[in-house]
Amino acid sequence: MSEPVYQRLAPATEIAENSMRAYALGDRSILVCRTKAGLHALDNICSHGYAKLDEGRLRGVRVICPLHGASFDCRDGSVLGAPATAPLQSYPVRTVDGWIEVEVPGP
Ligand code: FES
Repeated sequence: MSEPVYQRLAPATEIAENSMRAYALGDRSILVCRTKAGLHALDNICSHGYAKLDEGRLRGVRVICPLHGASFDCRDGSVLGAPATAPLQSYPVRTVDGWIEVEVPGP
């Protein structure tokens, strides 16, 4: 089994608690959220239509889509509120030497 490959995204200080920010990683847009529970990473594009979730809101662990109001749990990408029905892909995330790193599968 191959070792997971983490990719460095940004300094950990870029994201304050209760905030979120999107980063480009290859052809993906990754949303990183910092909550009381820590850092979480998931796809930044809503599973319902085409909307960037970093333009929405973060309330606790709930990410709310700016377009039609669907909501997702940032800890695992699961759907918390309609109209979305499909979860978002979530990714392992960690902090190393003050940097946020995310494990994203290769192409
Ligand atoms: S595009 Fe996000 S809820 Fe419709």
